[in-house]
Amino acid sequence: MKDKSIAPTQRERIMREDDFIVSKTDPKGIITYCNPIFIEFSGYSEEELLGTQHNIIRHPDMPRAAFKLVWDTIQAGKEVFAYVKNMSKDGGFYWVFTHITPDLGPRGDIVGYTSVRRCPKREALEKVAPVYRKMLDAEKAAGARDAIAAGTAVLVDLLKQTGMSYEELVFSL
Ligand SMILES: Cc1cc2nc3c(=O)[nH]c(=O)nc-3n(C[C@H](O)[C@H](O)[C@H](O)COP(=O)(O)O)c2cc1C
Repeated sequence: MKDKSIAPTQRERIMREDDFIVSKTDPKGIITYCNPIFIEFSGYSEEELLGTQHNIIRHPDMPRAAFKLVWDTIQAGKEVFAYVKNMSKDGGFYWVFTHITPDLGPRGDIVGYTSVRRCPKREALEKVAPVYRKMLDAEKAAGARDAIAAGTAVLVDLLKQTGMSYEELVFSL
């Protein structure tokens, strides 16, 4: 269970160039595997992580619409790339560039998901953070019921302005 009492701090952990933070989940996003670097950055023990929803490391600065896009994509059987700000157990944060892929069973059904996270480019984060901020502000202003639609609208607007698809935008950063 996510501990809602953890207060976010400004302490940042920065991924090393050759780090890969890996986790696997079941189809519902319950963690079934994580590597030692996941444990190091998240600050949780393997025991605390296994069997827990992946939102245990969700940072309150992340807009809900970003996760909606991620889930819509992977549940459709496609891979997704995204910049994500995560929160460690001590309230600190760490940015990642994640690639999430569906794991398929023998009949092509989705049996889980795998996420491999690499060190994000700092210049990319300078562009992503304000976009997420804008999405989050729109979500807060819209209220819980309409939050995802409001956050998504900000992103869709940006894509329209740039003339790029989501994936093109992510890789242009
Ligand atoms: C394989 C996989 C990896 C994920 N990795 C993260 C992650 O690193 N950080 C995160 O906040 N959510 C991650 N998620 C998404 C969470 O399941 C969840 O949707 C998100 O934290 C938002 O929480 P909420 O759905 O309770 O709002 C991942 C999901 C999957 C399937």
